[in-house]
Amino acid sequence: MPDIPMRKVLVFGSTGQLGHALRHTDWPAGMAPTFLDRDDADFTEPDEPAKRVAEHAPDAIIIAAAYTNVDAAESNEVTAFAVNAAAPGAIARAAAALSIPVVYISTDHVFDGRRPDRYVEDDAVGPVNAYGRSKLAGEIEIRAGNPRHLILRTSWVYSAIGANFLKSMVRLAGEHEEATIVVDQIGCPTAAEDLAASLVRVAPSLLQANAPWGTYHLAGSSETSRHGFAELIFSELAKRGLRRPTNRAITTAEFPRPALRPANSRLSSDAFRRTYGIALPGFESKVPRVLDALLAASKPKEESVTS
Ligand SMILES: NC(=O)c1ccc[n+]([C@@H]2O[C@H](COP(=O)([O-])OP(=O)(O)OC[C@H]3O[C@@H](n4cnc5c(N)ncnc54)[C@H](OP(=O)(O)O)[C@@H]3O)[C@@H](O)[C@H]2O)c1
Repeated sequence: MPDIPMRKVLVFGSTGQLGHALRHTDWPAGMAPTFLDRDDADFTEPDEPAKRVAEHAPDAIIIAAAYTNVDAAESNEVTAFAVNAAAPGAIARAAAALSIPVVYISTDHVFDGRRPDRYVEDDAVGPVNAYGRSKLAGEIEIRAGNPRHLILRTSWVYSAIGANFLKSMVRLAGEHEEATIVVDQIGCPTAAEDLAASLVRVAPSLLQANAPWGTYHLAGSSETSRHGFAELIFSELAKRGLRRPTNRAITTAEFPRPALRPANSRLSSDAFRRTYGIALPGFESKVPRVLDALLAASKPKEESVTS
């Protein structure tokens, strides 16, 4: 039998929540991922990541790198646009020159949050903050730069590493008797490892010439408020013998931040399920596993005993 050539996937952003999860996911036989971090390709210099594409000559690209600090983006919009739009655009064009596909991860923040139910892919966009504007600009760059693209909008990503809401709640529970959590922002929490597993599952089909390219939503299946999400996290902490703080509901107006947030971040992932046959679980079944991983990682290592 002739050898089947290895298909190379270049992943930018190896140190983030999604990048970390992609590194710890089993890839199908015949697919070889290469992970690049900020030192390998700084997205504030858009030519750099594009050069890496030419050097590695991969068969597909996943862009997991992004400027994700929503509040800081308000005062660093130029950097946010460089990282979330200019560099991905340059990567998309470099990929198009090699006739290979590119995957870009986008966000619920492209919407204004005023829709009464779940957002679908062709709903009107209208970001309410600089981060959302930069990610929307990234989507536009990707579409213009490479027809073979998959743009996946996700929301409320959490994992045992990096900066995320779940980790903030664990820290808060450790430090305070009472938590005040916003109740009028609703969304679909998404585990980074579920997102990574889905990307790896669809990767082989992306290598086909006629893959169903385009923009899709892919988020956890169940929805909740920030307050409801915190409630589940606190209950799970209590089950593990840790402090459960009082969880007081407040409004967004009572918790002003530099950046506005969409009040409704709920994404319908139906189109992705119909097209690729994948639906993500809800946070209720996933949070316990992520918490266990987080708590295991933060346990002090047992000191070695010497006689
Ligand atoms: N987190 C969420 O709640 C959320 C929600 C919706 C959509 N998304 C999207 O999902 C994707 C993955 O998010 P995530 O939560 O995994 O992000 P993350 O944990 O914040 O990781 C961001 C990654 O981007 C890298 N990065 C940042 N600035 C860079 C630069 N100038 N040059 C090169 N690399 C740079 C970071 O590297 P360093 O480690 O060196 O900083 C890190 O590897 C992003 O596209 C994000 O917009 C996230």
